[in-house]
Amino acid sequence: MDSIHVHGGVSLQGNVRIQGSKNAALPVLAATILTKETNVIHNCPKIADVYKMLQLLTSIGCFVNWEGDGVRVDSSHVNLNKMPAEAITEMRSSLFLVGTLLGQTGEIVMDRPGGCVIGERTIDLHIFALEKMGVSFFESEAYIHAVARNLHGADIFLEFPSVGATENIILAAVMAEGTTVIENAAREPEVVALCQYLKQCGAWIEGEGSSRISITGGQRLYGSDFAIPADRVVAGTYLFAALGTRGSVLLEDAPSEQMEAVISLAEEMGAECQQETCGLYVQASEGLQLPQRIMTEPYPGFPTDLQSVALACMTGIEGICIMEEKIFENRFRIVEYLRKMGADITTISESAVRVNGGSPLQGCTVEAKELRGGAALIIAALMAEGETQVQGCHFIYRGYENICRDLRELGARIYSVYK
Ligand code: UD1
Repeated sequence: MDSIHVHGGVSLQGNVRIQGSKNAALPVLAATILTKETNVIHNCPKIADVYKMLQLLTSIGCFVNWEGDGVRVDSSHVNLNKMPAEAITEMRSSLFLVGTLLGQTGEIVMDRPGGCVIGERTIDLHIFALEKMGVSFFESEAYIHAVARNLHGADIFLEFPSVGATENIILAAVMAEGTTVIENAAREPEVVALCQYLKQCGAWIEGEGSSRISITGGQRLYGSDFAIPADRVVAGTYLFAALGTRGSVLLEDAPSEQMEAVISLAEEMGAECQQETCGLYVQASEGLQLPQRIMTEPYPGFPTDLQSVALACMTGIEGICIMEEKIFENRFRIVEYLRKMGADITTISESAVRVNGGSPLQGCTVEAKELRGGAALIIAALMAEGETQVQGCHFIYRGYENICRDLRELGARIYSVYK
């Protein structure tokens, strides 16, 4: 089984460049098929989830070619009848293809999305919104069959600012007749990136980045060159790795303007953060202290994707902190492994834990159960005495281009073992 081995105890120092954003790249890649032309998506991260999305695009007739850090997608020969139903559910991000394809084919059959290790991740908001736009859903236990005879604009209020639902609505709305207004839309930078790409292709969209997005559909979309922004979650991962090891690092190209909640938390803990033109400089001091409480929230709040990473870092810092997860259930699966390494963490409820920080961690064998939890175990391993083996690292490769290379650049003793 593939694993990552870490000899901990080294304080991270130096520069590392931050890769392109996974959560921005996936919906943009899905959206390329709306143009039926050639698109070049620059700064596209070379990660397992992107490779899967490109495979999916190839399976429906797109020509896909890597050119340096960018990928050329020619969707002029898309044959939408070829879409394999299972493909939609294999990767949650392929849910974006539902909105995209409905606008083009008027019909789609997909497997019912299952739960996911970090939570139920239901799709009721997607269905509610698309129904308002004229889509009929016929559901069985195994399949969801969606038909749109007359896809049209609608006024949609989202009960929760779901990122996936907001993106799906936007993708359907650019192809629909009339205007769609999303109230309580997700404000995440990845939604903004998708809108910027679509606008560059010719779509009419206003309000991205705010809670009210308006899309006027039916414009002809043209192929475009677009650069994916740097990944705020990867930058945050390396920021917490630096704090946990009391290091000082320059995160080149880090999107500081998207990281306010993370930067203000690091400063509250006593770290020095400087936003330079080339990236974000972070320096940990010896006297770091835990904040009293951290709560995950929709953007611009503290991101759920950095909850487990922050938790791992906090186990080695003096103080007591309550960590509350407000977005997903089952996002505390790494707690058992952190405890195995020596962390003092008490479970308060399904969605909250108390960290009694400052315990020394000891290396041992642990197993990643999901992407960000896996990255968090690497951080714990960097902080620990001795050697840690992290198994299940295929989850980590879903979102990090080369976490071992990046951390080695900062001086870590880390390598991957393929068996
Ligand atoms: C979420 C995160 C996003 C992160 C991504 C990958 C938020 C708000 N969203 O996006 O920042 O990058 O995971 O880890 O932090 N929900 C429903 N019904 C739906 C859709 C969602 O109940 O139809 C619920 C989910 O179960 C969850 C919450 O809403 O509790 C957030 O979902 P959503 O934002 O849609 O998830 P992602 O798009 O995966």
